Amino acid sequence: WSRTAAKTDGVLSVGGVPLPELVREHGSPAYVLDEDDFRARARAFRDAFAGYDVFYAGKAFLCTTVARWLAEDGLSLDVCSGGELAVAERAGFPMDRIGFHGNNKTLGELERAVELGVGRVIVDSFAEIERLAAVTTELGGTTGVLVRVTAGVEAHTHEYIATAHEDQKFGFSIAGGDALEAVRRVLGSPGLRLLGLHSHIGSQIFDTSGFEVAARRVLALHARVGAELGVEMPEMDLGGGFGIAYTTQDDPSEPEQLAQGMSEIVEHECRALGIAQPRLSIEPGRAIVGPSMCTVYEVGTVKEVSLDGGARRSYVSVDGGMSDNIRTALYDADYSATLASRSSGAPAALARVVGKHCEAGDIVVKDEFLPGDVRPGDLVAVPGTGAYCRSMASNYNHALRPPVIGVRDGKTFTVLRRETEADLLATDVGVSS
Ligand code: LLP
Repeated sequence: WSRTAAKTDGVLSVGGVPLPELVREHGSPAYVLDEDDFRARARAFRDAFAGYDVFYAGKAFLCTTVARWLAEDGLSLDVCSGGELAVAERAGFPMDRIGFHGNNKTLGELERAVELGVGRVIVDSFAEIERLAAVTTELGGTTGVLVRVTAGVEAHTHEYIATAHEDQKFGFSIAGGDALEAVRRVLGSPGLRLLGLHSHIGSQIFDTSGFEVAARRVLALHARVGAELGVEMPEMDLGGGFGIAYTTQDDPSEPEQLAQGMSEIVEHECRALGIAQPRLSIEPGRAIVGPSMCTVYEVGTVKEVSLDGGARRSYVSVDGGMSDNIRTALYDADYSATLASRSSGAPAALARVVGKHCEAGDIVVKDEFLPGDVRPGDLVAVPGTGAYCRSMASNYNHALRPPVIGVRDGKTFTVLRRETEADLLATDVGVSS
């Protein structure tokens, strides 16, 4: 839960706003964004990683409001598409504090990034190095570049969100020699300024040994570039991926611990390699926004089923589902849920919170104990939905994506409005009205 979440007589409030009130005003389902919590987490990373550049990973959740908060609070921004860049531009985010990612940026995206003067483009293929050099030469000026490398570590996380083993699409392999070759090509490209190396090993990671091994390997390459090519790169980006607690089973590290661990490794390795320490950056997304949002749903139906062995489980159907949170279906993610609109003395019973979509895998929370008298009209809240829920939301079954409602000091403000049927039909130009 975000830090201002509190229950009084069974009614959950966030940012001083009781959720039943929020739903009366803004409807259900809704994502609830706790401004104080978001900004406190962003500042905690900024302060713990003083001397680093902290790039918030916009893919976790991005909108103009969040981009403005980050700009005000002195963070930088990682974007990975023209769309995310457009949000940053609309928010007036300082372009020199943006890093532009992606394994297949289009020519149009590269042109836009160069035109806008994005601070650094993280290159991910030989073809892209050529394209970026051509675009920069055509438009004039120079472009700062980081070379994304693959450290060859197995991060202990879901296969789909691990990115540092060899057999996946991101980065240039250090072990295979492509990374050094990519550095050479950037150095040989007119218009490109080599700033450093970039490594991101995956997401929702708790075991810091993966970061350590990656940092060692990337620093070794950094030193090799200095020794063999005579080039001292000023920067190094160690990516994001810091895990958060979705349930009480998870035990994440605080930013201070992460910063201390990372700085110790880098200092130690640089000393051992006899090199100057590059300026470091990190790219946390989930660890900043994940805990600062929850989703509130209204219960529509409750159905009891018998399980093998005679136990019962109630299927609590809510007015959203896999269209606003695909993570349970896609990554087998664990979430929790709580009754948010009233107190109940009923004994807890095994429940599964499911959505309204046309498939059996449409599950929001797989296993949760909810009061046995949960009924239609109740509100249920799911914490920790800030990262990769609204940003991965879809219109499956022509669902209208829920709004993001900011809360602070007892007041609500709309960050993203709810979609309407008119929004959906606007793209359907087959039969004009
Ligand atoms: N930097 C790079 C280059 C990345 O690719 C990512 C995430 C991040 C930073 C931020 O990682 P974070 O700190 O948020 O873990 N949809 C998946 C996660 C995909 C992560 C993609 N890249 C999920 O819902 O778990």
